[in-house]
Amino acid sequence: MTDVVLVDLHVNGERHDLAIPPRRTLADVLRHDLGLTGTHVGCEHGVCGACTVLVDGAPARSCLLFAVQVEDADVRTVESLGHDGQLSDLQRCFAAHHGLQCGFCTPGFLMLAEGYLAAEPDPSREQIREVVASNLCRCTGYQTIVDAVQDCAAQRRAIAGAAGGEE
Ligand code: FES
Ligand code: FES
Repeated sequence: MTDVVLVDLHVNGERHDLAIPPRRTLADVLRHDLGLTGTHVGCEHGVCGACTVLVDGAPARSCLLFAVQVEDADVRTVESLGHDGQLSDLQRCFAAHHGLQCGFCTPGFLMLAEGYLAAEPDPSREQIREVVASNLCRCTGYQTIVDAVQDCAAQRRAIAGAAGGEE
């Protein structure tokens, strides 16, 4: 039986050549092999969404994926959001609207929302509610998370509109 396999993972724009057990989850590789502990692990069986990352732009539960399954994919974790020590627009909206309390669920919600807004830049409040319902938060009551995502979407549309007007 093969103890380890060689994989070439693309995470947050960097390549990583790793020798890992074939059944090692993406969540464990991110946290324990790459030190990207922003991805949290709660239930480890696909229910809570704390481990959500982007795989080729789409939100995915990293506890349900073997790392070998994403060898050819572009993986993004919460560490990819901010730049030069500054929070991203979405992170700032979560802070401004108190979309987090203990923060355990927050990386998963951020990556869920980031992937969703990339695909749907003009969602209704009801659509946002349906999307964030896929992840579990025991603190906020969800309204502030919905507020944050809605505000970020509006800010991005305003910026895109202004940029379009300059052309
Ligand atoms: Fe992956 Fe809960 S830890 S869904
Ligand atoms: Fe505590 Fe969501 S902020 S679980």
